[in-house]
Amino acid sequence: MIKEQIKNLIEKSVRSLYSDIQDKEIYFTVEHPADLSHGDYSSNVSLILSKKLGLSPKEVAEKIILEINKSLPENILKVNIAGPGFINFYFKNDFFLENIKKIITNGEKFGSSELGKNKKVLVDYSGPNIAKPFTVGHLRSTIIGDVLANILVFLGYKVIRDNHLGDWGTQFGKQMVAIEKWGSLEALEKSENKVKYLVDLYVKFHEESEKDISLEDLARNRFADLERGEKKAREMYDTTIKYSLEYFDSVYKRLKVNPFDTTLGESFYREYMKGILDELEKRGVARESEGALAVFFNDEKFPPFLIRKANGSTLYATSDLASDKYRLNTYGDDLIIINETGTEQILHFKQLFETEKMLGWIKDGQRVHISHGMYRFKEGKMSTRKGNVIWLEEIIDEAVNKAREINSDVAEEVAISAIKFNDLKRESKQDINFDWKGILDLRGDSGPYLQYYYARANSVLEKAKNENIKAEIKIGKKDAEQNEEGDEKGNEISHLEKIIYYFPEVVERAGKEYSPHYIATYLIEIAGAFNSFYAKEQIVNRDDENSAYRVAITKAFSIVMKNGLNLLGIPVLEKM
Ligand code: ARG
Repeated sequence: MIKEQIKNLIEKSVRSLYSDIQDKEIYFTVEHPADLSHGDYSSNVSLILSKKLGLSPKEVAEKIILEINKSLPENILKVNIAGPGFINFYFKNDFFLENIKKIITNGEKFGSSELGKNKKVLVDYSGPNIAKPFTVGHLRSTIIGDVLANILVFLGYKVIRDNHLGDWGTQFGKQMVAIEKWGSLEALEKSENKVKYLVDLYVKFHEESEKDISLEDLARNRFADLERGEKKAREMYDTTIKYSLEYFDSVYKRLKVNPFDTTLGESFYREYMKGILDELEKRGVARESEGALAVFFNDEKFPPFLIRKANGSTLYATSDLASDKYRLNTYGDDLIIINETGTEQILHFKQLFETEKMLGWIKDGQRVHISHGMYRFKEGKMSTRKGNVIWLEEIIDEAVNKAREINSDVAEEVAISAIKFNDLKRESKQDINFDWKGILDLRGDSGPYLQYYYARANSVLEKAKNENIKAEIKIGKKDAEQNEEGDEKGNEISHLEKIIYYFPEVVERAGKEYSPHYIATYLIEIAGAFNSFYAKEQIVNRDDENSAYRVAITKAFSIVMKNGLNLLGIPVLEKM
């Protein structure tokens, strides 16, 4: 990648100028300036070094530039100083043309890499809870987790998509009591919306148990029956699981996310928990306190991590430790594990990772927690227990209804794109204020906007095909007229060409920082640039010899947009 080349060039020049700098690594950045007329890349290296060397940044920059100029790469036009001492790099016109060519040649592979070659990563996301609704929290986790997995696959990682179901816990006792008291398995079989039937009963349990606390004891007993494997309890449990899984599958289909490689719930890891408790105690990582077992951290860095309650029951923490042990055993010690959950679990995962480090299971960087904020509706936070639940389907249905106004043939695709993009365009940690206008806006930062510009480029390419104009790139032509001051003779490089080549950098950053929003915002940027390009130039024009190159640019745009949308799990529409 050109960015690496520039970095290396700077590093080499600095080393040969200042051989007394012994630092293994010199930390400096190479970025695109906000205003590209100030250069295609800009580095702060002289500002960083000036302190070390006791010179002014300008002096340092001048020296470095002299050094760089001794072996200036072919595609760089010039290097100069800007502002307080930034070093700016400008490319020759041909550089941009060559990249257009490269994009077209690489096609659907453009942006992919081998960064993750021989590395395995497990992404644990979605993780809905059986017998409870699929919440918007799970919606966010599903969207973000799926996209992270897509990005890592594109970067060459071996990826395991893991759906960690909440399929064990005291809620099943409550569920059973509710079915037995106010419903029946027969009625469940007959009901049209089975998960809703179950959730209504669950809500009823909480209403009733507020009046009659003995119900809680009953629920605990029923759950104990299930743990013992009592037949009737087991039957109810299995039925509930079956219908919930069917329901989750229908949700995943509708959201157009990739299938999971493995779906193992908390119940699966139960048999490994005993071993975990033993290991924790034997290694002295956890100790007893008032009958309970907990991990205590050095300097009380985090509050104690409860692993087993005084009554002997295990917890979410125990189950997570067991899951990770199983995963490391199954996929290898060097497995990277990413969990995507709500921000309310941040502390839990900090405690979990620290415990795994204390156990010597993992090294730095091997455990990652990505968290998402909440959806805020006017109604406020939702709770399954109270029943003021917003069903995921209601959100999707509403989006589809509104998307019909844009295009009724592809309303479902437009709706899914709107919902996903609304989520992906910002850092996942942020909360989302749900605003229907914004998410479907064809002119704003929305999923439908991206779909629309892709479709538009596609129709331009159709037109070019009908007119028999093929994409063509004549390298060497533009440079003949390029001079230091820029171009005058209508030969300027469009903003689109100036940004389209750095898609691979954006994908790499999104992968390294586990942050899909870099791709999302970049796609908005290139869509905007394409829009200006399209407005300014008549792309298809048989009487203009430059038309073939404009068709090539359009083609390159459509490739990058399509690759980007695919990574974001957003349906690509040829027409809209
Ligand atoms: N079921 C959990 C929830 O609804 C998410 C599970 C996340 N994965 C994990 N290994 N803890 O919040």
